[in-house]
Amino acid sequence: MQLSRRDMVRMGAGAALTAAGGRAMADGTVRIGIVGTGARGTGLLATLLQMPGVAVPAVCDIDAGRAANARALVQQSGRGDAEAYTRDEWDYKRLCTRGDLDAVLIATPWNWHATMAVEAMKSGKTAATEVPACLTVEECWDLVRTSEATGKSCMMLENVNYFENVLALQRMVEEGVYGEVLHAEAGYQHDCRFLAFTDDGKLTWRGEHLARLTGNLYPTHPLGPVAWWMGINRGDRITSLSSVSTRGVCLAEYAARKFGADHPLARRKYAVGDINTTIMQTARGRTITLYFTISTPRAYDLIFRLQGSKGIYEGGHDRTYIEGVSPTADTPEPFAPYLQRYAHPLWKKLETEAKRNGGHGGCDYIVLYEFVQAVREGRSTPQDVVDAATWSVVTPLSALSVAKGGARVAVPDFSKGAWRKPRPVP
Ligand SMILES: NC(=O)c1ccc[n+]([C@@H]2O[C@H](COP(=O)([O-])OP(=O)(O)OC[C@H]3O[C@@H](n4cnc5c(N)ncnc54)[C@H](O)[C@@H]3O)[C@@H](O)[C@H]2O)c1
Repeated sequence: MQLSRRDMVRMGAGAALTAAGGRAMADGTVRIGIVGTGARGTGLLATLLQMPGVAVPAVCDIDAGRAANARALVQQSGRGDAEAYTRDEWDYKRLCTRGDLDAVLIATPWNWHATMAVEAMKSGKTAATEVPACLTVEECWDLVRTSEATGKSCMMLENVNYFENVLALQRMVEEGVYGEVLHAEAGYQHDCRFLAFTDDGKLTWRGEHLARLTGNLYPTHPLGPVAWWMGINRGDRITSLSSVSTRGVCLAEYAARKFGADHPLARRKYAVGDINTTIMQTARGRTITLYFTISTPRAYDLIFRLQGSKGIYEGGHDRTYIEGVSPTADTPEPFAPYLQRYAHPLWKKLETEAKRNGGHGGCDYIVLYEFVQAVREGRSTPQDVVDAATWSVVTPLSALSVAKGGARVAVPDFSKGAWRKPRPVP
């Protein structure tokens, strides 16, 4: 796809005609291969195909029909064709070796993310992976060490960091509106029981994970924003966590209603507890409470309660109290006027395109835009491997803590001491 000079200037591509991976992108186009073209991969592909200066010459999925559907989307976009890689579950390796890709975007089930991202970086590509990036501590270190060894970045596409309110809060924190940030409470609370089972009485890949794993299996949506507000890996770091889970009953009850009380899925055990609660401490004396439940009947709620020395934001009620500004602590103010007043520059810049072209209120567009820009300019991605590892490691460490009755578990310093140096978030 040829870009106009205006597009190039707008995207900053003129200053960055050398690609990540050392290839020249004379026309400024970033070429991305997509691995995993299910629900999320297809959504991200559709968003990328609305973005100037992006081509998708390769797609990969073990389900040939899904890959063909993704290929058709590329063809319909007028941005050339895409080769489909569908031979088997390792065919992503062939995609990674292509010489015409700058980046590989991964939207497969959780257990594949780290392996595929490592392969992409080793093949000289910048990687992007869906959340969470890793399921084990070893995978976290693999990601960090491979990035160090190859000089390539991997961005975990934590889109919640780019929600409108999350970005506005980021600006308010940076401008000191809430004073010293002390505590945050957040959670991934979303009734996803329907995603655990197929209609013909089997477990999906998510269901398999819920049956086998315990602890907090989806920590990064709530933790990513909190980590940026607290400057985690940018002046502070998470040092330890303790985690407890309730017993798990909801999945079996759901399966009994869906398939009958005698069905094996109604009678089996699911390792995951219905509600997991994890408490974290940071080196600078902050605390975070993180909740996880995807099997209980309830409305979607990320909580997002942020307490600082000068005030509080309460996401559940979307209201705030700021000492010396708000009239009274007993009746916090609606947050809406602050959302306008503190609109983040990134949100202001991209709001129109984001709302038109991206899911989740536009943040899917912004997270992809940030990734594409980093690849185009040959710089590290705004969420890096240390962030990906720090936010994802909650899964294995919470499982460890749960197994030890809620014992405190140390969180590795994936930054190897670099966390002490404050640096702004993008
Ligand atoms: N950030 C968000 O808001 C968000 C939203 C939804 C899903 N997700 C994440 O996206 C990922 C995908 O979720 P989904 O809902 O699209 O699942 P999905 O099951 O619809 O899609 C996964 C796809 O990966 C393919 N796949 C599996 N193994 C493969 C392999 N070895 N090689 C190639 N393809 C393979 C499957 O055939 C399937 O098409 C998950 O990690 C999920 O957590 C993130």
